[in-house]
Amino acid sequence: MIDSGGYIRDIFQKSPGAQVEAHGWVKTRRDSKGIHFIQLNDGSTFQDLQVVIEAGAVPETALAAATTGACVRVSGDLVASPGAGQAVELKARDLHVYGPADPATYPLQKKGHTMEFLREIAHLRVRSNTFGAVFRVRNALSFAVHKFFQERGFLYLNTPIITASDAEGAGAMFRVTTLDLMNLPHPVDNTADFFGKAAYLAVSGQLEAEIFALAFTNVYTFGPTFRAENSNTPRHLAEFWMIEPEMAFCDLDGNRKLAEDFLKYIIAYVLDNCRSDLDFFNKRIDNTVLATLEHVATSAFEHVTYTEAVALLEKSGRNWEFPVSWGVDLQSEHERYLTEEVFKKPVIVTDYPAEIKAFYMRLNEDGKTVRAMDVLAPRIGEIIGGSQREERHDVLVEKIRAKGLSVEDYSWYLDLRKYGTAPHAGFGLGLERMMMYLTGMKNIRDVIPFPRTPGSAEF
Ligand code: 4AD
Ligand code: MG
Repeated sequence: MIDSGGYIRDIFQKSPGAQVEAHGWVKTRRDSKGIHFIQLNDGSTFQDLQVVIEAGAVPETALAAATTGACVRVSGDLVASPGAGQAVELKARDLHVYGPADPATYPLQKKGHTMEFLREIAHLRVRSNTFGAVFRVRNALSFAVHKFFQERGFLYLNTPIITASDAEGAGAMFRVTTLDLMNLPHPVDNTADFFGKAAYLAVSGQLEAEIFALAFTNVYTFGPTFRAENSNTPRHLAEFWMIEPEMAFCDLDGNRKLAEDFLKYIIAYVLDNCRSDLDFFNKRIDNTVLATLEHVATSAFEHVTYTEAVALLEKSGRNWEFPVSWGVDLQSEHERYLTEEVFKKPVIVTDYPAEIKAFYMRLNEDGKTVRAMDVLAPRIGEIIGGSQREERHDVLVEKIRAKGLSVEDYSWYLDLRKYGTAPHAGFGLGLERMMMYLTGMKNIRDVIPFPRTPGSAEF
């Protein structure tokens, strides 16, 4: 029997003298006279297990095949390590090679590779130090998300991936169809399509989450989201993961507080549980990552209204690529100026002009701004977008019309305001934007296992 378990992470918890068996992939190998050193990693922890093989200790053929990239099983004695960098090492008594890797062609050699090159080998990059750390942090982050909401009694729900309504007007959608693209009639007959109407991949689960909030009080979604806008930037993906809490009996201030508590909680969780991975990012990717996270986890976020933010931008004396005046949407250069230069920490901007925000955001008394909130983070810009929702039926009908949308298309959404409406609010956090913030990784393509971007959907 081969049973699972027996991670290298657990071997590091044992004391010298223990008999252990380790499985993993050879990261590097060094040979000197009569003695061989293998750095073995199984993904369970950043630290490699150093395996020491003395001449004659293991079968010669196995030793010859245990080169960089090979998958092996080693058993032997755990001993105190005389070398720097590890407390214990494994003195091999047996070595078995599950799968060799030809050193002449194995693409992951010891020398540093560019992120671009590693993206081309997404099936192997996960075995590198950088991507090992990235995906352990992503795992811990995902767990922390559930832990935060579950501890607060939120109900987890799965919203549809295929949808027949353009929920948000949030962005261009991908069409889902079984129509024969080689023989499309003009105009297209959507009633002949699979669902009897046009269908798309969801840009957000918010509107469905609102249905659930108005039955379960506090809910959240955590799932894949699709946007077809042609944004080829280091911060945009066509397929990304979003976490969307939605709370009944909650206003914009409550929403803002939850967003701040949530971000602090997941940062603290990752700091507590992924220390060696974060140490690596701090050393090799961005030497401000640890200090920033520790600071953010413990200090209060800034809050300004959109109107105040625009005033700060106008008096900055900067030559903006996108000029600023009241009414324009904030661009990444503006968001970064506010967080990186003015406040030097996350900033929550609220009460944006109704014109530039989605129809469902609650209209303020001034009739021009809505109860919107964006959380901006240094280096990343917008990390969270959310709002208090318009819960007044007649005001919502007006807002739908004002955006040129069809009231019929939103009949069920309006029903929620007709039958037992309640003040409610929510937000969306982009998981990959959060990953960039936690790791210091500069391109969003390098914090998701298999990135989908304009012109690229490998693997
Ligand atoms: O601001 P957005 O578009 O908000 C919504 O979708 C609302 N329905 C959320 C809600 O209130 N429930 O997107 C939310 C977040 C952004 O702040 C950003 O972090 C992330 O999703 N995001 C993207 N991440 C990667 N690639 C993209 N193309 C993204 N678009 C948005
Ligand atoms: Mg947004």
